Amino acid sequence: MDYTIEKMISEGDLQARIREVAKEIEKDYEGKDLICVGLLKGSIMFMADLLKNVELDLAMDFMKVSSYHGGTDSTGVVKILKDVDEDLTGKDVLIIEDIIDTGLTLESVKKFLMSKQPKSLKVCSLLDKPSRRKVEMVGEYIGFEIPDEFVVGYGLDYDELYRNLPYIGKVVRK
Ligand code: XMP
Ligand code: MG
Repeated sequence: MDYTIEKMISEGDLQARIREVAKEIEKDYEGKDLICVGLLKGSIMFMADLLKNVELDLAMDFMKVSSYHGGTDSTGVVKILKDVDEDLTGKDVLIIEDIIDTGLTLESVKKFLMSKQPKSLKVCSLLDKPSRRKVEMVGEYIGFEIPDEFVVGYGLDYDELYRNLPYIGKVVRK
């Protein structure tokens, strides 16, 4: 291998921050009709640990979208590979994502989900790389802001590997 993985956010720091975000969500969505929509596959670890700490009656659903290709700035760049199963009409929908990078994925996903007429639509992302934005995208709930590094672990992959790491690491070229 011509790279190594250096620890960036420890398991302890992840879990502590995730509990804080969970309590914010719990407070904000009390008494609401919450459905959390995870984006596959990157959000699975985060979604599981986060929602175990949200003590509310909520529903879970999943979407899978293709990554965009090429350097276009145009919108509507992702393809829907798996739609949600539930009816989102009138629901308070919270998208659960692993990382906001350029913002293009979430811009498309939000536009797509808005057409289902939810009562509200917000974004919760474990990581945020604001320096890489191509479109304006603000997540209402963010775990950690990180610098412009390629990261893996805790759901995030490099060629489908490392999703099972309990921490976030950065890929460092040798
Ligand atoms: P955009 O640019 O649309 O990207 O905001 C969001 C998606 O890009 C992937 N992504 C990463 N995946 N390490 C990864 O494993 C990273 O550092 C990284 N940055 C972006 C990720 O799939 C995310 O959902
Ligand atoms: Mg993703």
